[in-house]
Amino acid sequence: MQNEIINILKKEERFSEKTIEEIREVEINDFADIIKEVGHQETEYLSRNKIMDSLNTEVIGKEVYLFKDVMSTNTVAKFLSENGAEHGTVIISEKQSDAKGRLGKHWESPLGGIWLSLIVNPKVDHSKIPMITLATGVAVVKALERIGIDNAEIKWPNDVLINDKKVCGILTEAITKFNTIENVIIGVGIDANFDVDVLSKELQEGTTTLDIELGHKVDENNVIAILLEEFEKIGRVFNEGGFEAILKEWRKYSYSIGKIVEVREPFSKSYDGYVLGISREGALVVEKIDGTLEKVISGECIIKN
Ligand code: BTN
Repeated sequence: MQNEIINILKKEERFSEKTIEEIREVEINDFADIIKEVGHQETEYLSRNKIMDSLNTEVIGKEVYLFKDVMSTNTVAKFLSENGAEHGTVIISEKQSDAKGRLGKHWESPLGGIWLSLIVNPKVDHSKIPMITLATGVAVVKALERIGIDNAEIKWPNDVLINDKKVCGILTEAITKFNTIENVIIGVGIDANFDVDVLSKELQEGTTTLDIELGHKVDENNVIAILLEEFEKIGRVFNEGGFEAILKEWRKYSYSIGKIVEVREPFSKSYDGYVLGISREGALVVEKIDGTLEKVISGECIIKN
């Protein structure tokens, strides 16, 4: 955490001459104020003003912090949520140098992508938290529909694919205090306008971008505003307990249902099976080769057909 914050401060003129030790002496409360100030400065590639001007929401995105380059927007979001940032706050960065993917993987985030994190304070039972990831996937697909992409699908739990290639990943992290969930950070990464050649070799084949799929570059400020609107809409359904409605949408967009997969769950042996559907808690229901059913709550599902 400290490293992330120091990194941001180091790029500011008033701190650039200071040593890391000197920066560490700044009061932690001041850190949060300075980070918020930096997040309000205009940047070159994206525009906080354009995003906020075109945004038609009540709560989500009422506070937006936009950075040129952070290690991970999820880490900044976590820091800010522990230092007074409210439900609906959005943290965006033009680039990320150490972004986090699911299952401890690194997430490549060059300039030209949409890299953002939302701070939310869900008013539901903890057992429903995994549903937030599913709901976010639905919000992304609906946002893509609004910009003219009508064939996006969701691969359980949180990959958004277009034409079998990944265009978006979602990483949800809960912030707990004394065993209760204080806030949830929803990190969304959308490959928008960059050339896939800038990614490492192993990612290039399985990745697509909005630019590739649409045949033209997108206005990322506009896509962000649309995404936040869709998120607010589905968030309302979520807070009112409309989980069945969310699951219905998820099933409609599912890439996984009806496929043969290899399931890799943490701390257990991998196995093959057929994806029957998704349970009411958001677990993937898989029929194993021997006919028994498994509910997959976390881990990876590799499509085999
Ligand atoms: C995945 O592995 O598919 C999830 C990727 C999530 C990436 C996003 S980009 C914005 C936010 N900040 C991070 O460090 N990760 C998420």
